[in-house]
Amino acid sequence: MSQNVLISPSILSADFAKLGEEVRAIDAAGADMIHIDVMDGHYVPNLTIGPMVVKALRPHSDKPFDVHLMISPVDHLLEAFIEAGSDIVTLHPDAGPHMHRSLQAIKAMGARCGAALNPATPASELDYVMDQLDLILVMSVNPGYGGQSFIDSQLRKIEALRAMIDQTGRDIILEVDGGVNSETARQCRDAGASALVAGSAVFRGHHGSYAANITALRG
Ligand code: DX5
Ligand code: ZN
Repeated sequence: MSQNVLISPSILSADFAKLGEEVRAIDAAGADMIHIDVMDGHYVPNLTIGPMVVKALRPHSDKPFDVHLMISPVDHLLEAFIEAGSDIVTLHPDAGPHMHRSLQAIKAMGARCGAALNPATPASELDYVMDQLDLILVMSVNPGYGGQSFIDSQLRKIEALRAMIDQTGRDIILEVDGGVNSETARQCRDAGASALVAGSAVFRGHHGSYAANITALRG
């Protein structure tokens, strides 16, 4: 498992004045996916990236765009993010009234879908949507900002979700997001994570450091 962990650098920690260049740099440095954190100043306090920016970044990488929507309501913007070039669209279950319907809508538009669990949200929240999901995102910090410390209690949730996923027999990506560094990456891999998001641990130093920063997370 640990050999194959996917690394999805979060461009939240990139230089926003040079986003295209930064996406090309992490692509060249070996990123498996590009994690794009969308925040609306309502579901979370911070405000970041909209569909126009996703569209502008699309020509800069062929890697899957792993788009993490921290917005509420969410349904009216799904189409815009998918048309802009999102490959995987992940939403929070409490971002709208009908998660099952929102996941169906994402799939119907041809993208893969994910659900993100905040630190206080139990794994069981996903019991009845497991058959729909392509990705489960475990938030190991409270959503809203990069550079926070990993919340250890989430390791038990990763283990629980690994067991739930294995039971489905489907290859659902189990991704961890927040406070991932070389030490917590190892703990996440051991707990059964198959993908790791990292912002501050990847976008450290100059472009020349990104490859080593990514390699350090693979273990
Ligand atoms: C937080 C975001 C994360 C964040 C990760 O709301 O979802 O993707 O950017 O940043 P680090 O790796 O710095 O914790
Ligand atoms: Zn994220």
